[in-house]
Amino acid sequence: MSEYAIIPRPALLKYQPGSFQCSGLPLIADNGEVFQNEGQVFAGQLRRCFGEASFAAGSPCIRLRQRAGDAPHQDESYRMEIDSQVIDISAASGAGIYRGLQTLRQLLLSGCRQGACVIPCGIIEDTPRFPWRGFMLDCSRYFYSVEFIKKLLDALSLHHINIFHWHLTDDQGWRFPVRRYPLLAEIGSKRQDHRHWNRFTGGFYTEEEIQDIVSFAACRHIEVVPEVDFPGHASAILAAYPGLGCTGGPYRVEDRFGVFDDVLCAGGGLFPLAEAVFDTLGELFPSRYVHIGGDEVRFGRWAECPKCQKQLAALGLSSPKQLQSWITSRLAAMLRERGKTAIGWDEVLEHSEQFPLPDDLIVMSWRGREGGDKAAALGHRVIMTPNSEGCYLDYKHSDSAEEPGQIHISTLAQGFNLNPIASGMDEKAAALVLGGQGNLWSELIYAGKIAEYMIFPRICALAESLWSKVEAKDFEEFRRRLVIHQSRLDLLGLLQYRGWENNTGCM
Ligand code: ACM
Ligand code: ZN
Repeated sequence: MSEYAIIPRPALLKYQPGSFQCSGLPLIADNGEVFQNEGQVFAGQLRRCFGEASFAAGSPCIRLRQRAGDAPHQDESYRMEIDSQVIDISAASGAGIYRGLQTLRQLLLSGCRQGACVIPCGIIEDTPRFPWRGFMLDCSRYFYSVEFIKKLLDALSLHHINIFHWHLTDDQGWRFPVRRYPLLAEIGSKRQDHRHWNRFTGGFYTEEEIQDIVSFAACRHIEVVPEVDFPGHASAILAAYPGLGCTGGPYRVEDRFGVFDDVLCAGGGLFPLAEAVFDTLGELFPSRYVHIGGDEVRFGRWAECPKCQKQLAALGLSSPKQLQSWITSRLAAMLRERGKTAIGWDEVLEHSEQFPLPDDLIVMSWRGREGGDKAAALGHRVIMTPNSEGCYLDYKHSDSAEEPGQIHISTLAQGFNLNPIASGMDEKAAALVLGGQGNLWSELIYAGKIAEYMIFPRICALAESLWSKVEAKDFEEFRRRLVIHQSRLDLLGLLQYRGWENNTGCM
């Protein structure tokens, strides 16, 4: 190995003469209590990949050190110095140490072969560009196993992804138990006409499984942000509790894909339901955030429903569309009371003139970046995940009938070129951009292996856009690193798209 080929590219990297050599995998020196978790996760990652016997006998040569006082948002920064004897990683926090260890994991995945390790000497100083570097997985359209989610989280953390946005509800399935509404999981988690498919598309995560995933993620310094989609994409809720709709049904857990007319009634029991759901989420997820959806709501039922009309009149509003802003504001307030901040898809900004949205609402921009630009101009914090700029990983890799995915295309280059801060943004608006993320919707992704193929290596490019400095971006240089990096992902057993190497169609 002559170059580090790290993804995402570190902020500063300086090679030095000589190399670190070890007759096996290097061991971490005892660090007492401080970085026990990080050291254990790291050792487990190496053990799983190389086997127990591959650790070097003799003196430990990785040193983890705590460094005093960075600014709070900088606490993922780390410094790594590799000399011929010792690999020294220092950081202010466990998160920084973990990020450093993942960079080292990359070097070891490339630098260790047949019982020996060789890594060029050098110094890395690294710090993230954005605090929100996310990945969203849709577990409603396809029900991914706990094991698969863990494998994925582990691989994402290799790239310093720090947010797992877990899309847990949609028309095609409700995926967690709510004690006060037991039918959500009982009925809402199974599609009606997919009997043999229900082995894969039916089911919900138990409280224990959710806690297991949350803690697995936390050990890797990933925050799990749950999403419950209100008031649209609600067929699974309506199938379980038809009284929550405008017409009373009949409804079914959808086995078709698309956007449906039936949504939660704005004059019915939506808020008691949300209370129970938010209480449950509060118990299961320590995250600062809850995503409340808000995308693709159809307003036709509200226009015809006497209960919705009564609500509209009571609020002095003129159009059923405005009820969405009222709902968003109330849901955000309910979350605030529980110490959480609401996030909504960019549709929540529409029709909000008469119901100004609360300042703390975070807007996730997916229909291009316009919603995010508008939200930041209004003073909201923003997460950029434009479907037009490489963030939709359910889109095809290239324009080929043989490729899986939705008919649109998201290329590696688009993800690499993503800049969450638009060129015309003023400083005040730019400061409100938390970062961005890649999303995998799973209508057409009906197996974990296909999911891997859609995610890798595009998430590598997105990770670089979100972690690395925007200056000195160079796609050709990234492509060189990626060839080396994909061999690492092979060692982790991930299925990957490789057509980008020679496919001009993917550019
Ligand atoms: C979305 O893609 N409907 C947020
Ligand atoms: Zn209604």
